[in-house]
This record gives sequence, C-alpha cells and structure tokens, in this order.
Amino acid sequence: MYGMVNQAIEAMVTEKFGRADWEKVKEIAGVDEPAFVTMKQYPDSMTYALAGAVSSHAGMPLPDVLRAFGGYWIQYAKDGPWGKLMMASGTDTYSLLAALDAMHARIALSFPDLRPPAFAVKRNGDSVVVEYRSDRPGLAPFVMGLIEGIGILFDESVTATQVASKDDGAPCDAFLVRAVPAAKAV
Ligand code: HEM
Repeated sequence: MYGMVNQAIEAMVTEKFGRADWEKVKEIAGVDEPAFVTMKQYPDSMTYALAGAVSSHAGMPLPDVLRAFGGYWIQYAKDGPWGKLMMASGTDTYSLLAALDAMHARIALSFPDLRPPAFAVKRNGDSVVVEYRSDRPGLAPFVMGLIEGIGILFDESVTATQVASKDDGAPCDAFLVRAVPAAKAV
C-alpha cells in the first residue's frame, strides 16, 4: 500500500502513545524505515505487520486496532490534501458511502498504482447494506471503523454491523449501516 497508509498508522500511534512507542512498534514489526514516503508503494505485508505490532504492543485485539485505525483514518484524510475531495463526495453518511468508488477513482489519478476496494450500497428501509470487496484479507473491522468515522464527519450517529463475511464463505463482506442525526440518536 502507499506510504500514506503507514504514515497514518505512525500518526495514530505517536498521537495516542508517543514517539518511543512508535519506535517500539516498528521494532516489533521488523520495519526498518526511518520515515515513510506518501507516494511510494510499500508491501502490504509491512502494513499488516505494523497493525499486528500495534496490537501486541498496546495489548489490544487486532480487530479493535483496525477499527480504531478506520476512525482515525477519516480524520487524518480529512486534514490531508484529499480532504476537500472527500467532503465534496457526499452530504451525509449514506451519500458518501455510495460515492466511495468514484472518490477512490479520483484519488487514483494521483496514485496511479492504487488498488482501491470496491463498495456497493443498497437501501434497506432506513438503513443501508454496504458490500465491500477487496483482494486484501482481514480488513472488515477497518471498514467498520471507517464507516463509523464517516458518521462523525456529518454529525450522525452511525452503527455498522457485519452481516456477511468472506471468511465464512460469503461472496463478499457486507455491513448493515444505520445513520441518524446525532441529536436524534436513541
Ligand atoms: C481523502 C480520503 C481518502 C484517501 C486519500 C484514500 C486513499 C487510499 C489509499 C492510498 C489506500 C491504499 C490502497 C493502495 O495503496 O493500493 C486506500 C485503501 C483503502 N481505502 Fe481509501 N482513501 C480515502 C478515503 C476512504 C474512505 C472514506 C473509505 C471508506 C470506507 C476508504 C476505504 C478504503 C479501504 C477499505 C482501503 C483498504 C484497501 C482494500 O480494502 O483493499 N477510503 N485508500
């Protein structure tokens, strides 16, 4: 994945724990990079190793780390060079979810080797079902954290529950997502 992703993990760890903890996380992960370059590609195995190292260093289950990282990524991306594009891609959680493929396609103009995920959003009463497709394994908790993070952007209270899992033989991962204005949340 592009260095931007590893940079966001670094930012999360240094913010929440500290620089010494980040150095320790890299050591546990066996990553010997003084700094990541935003636009450079690094092996996916490095990103997975970093997430695993955060999990063991912080004593937090890996799915919890990935979910927290999803929420963090949204705030990180919002403050970055593509933040305006993300905010212009939707007016609320559901519309941004429906625009994710178009948004990643725009981002791919700047990141030519991007391997973005694919999303399909289907209305389900006052909820939506979000299908998530990727050839990368194990990222469903990350996606739930991302979806929750999108809710915060629009001041909506969002719940994301996994309703189908590729690990259990489903054709893709799927999440039931319900967004309500934060003030009305019950
Ligand atoms: C400004 C906003 C965003 C930027 C700049 C961005 C950029 C990226 C980049 C660089 C990657 C790594 C892929 C690679 O290197 O091949 C990635 C992956 C990913 N992005 Fe985004 N993204 C943004 C917002 C979002 C949002 C809002 C979601 C919400 C669901 C999302 C979902 C994902 C997922 C799930 C992956 C993991 C890759 C996979 O599943 O295979 N991204 N994105």
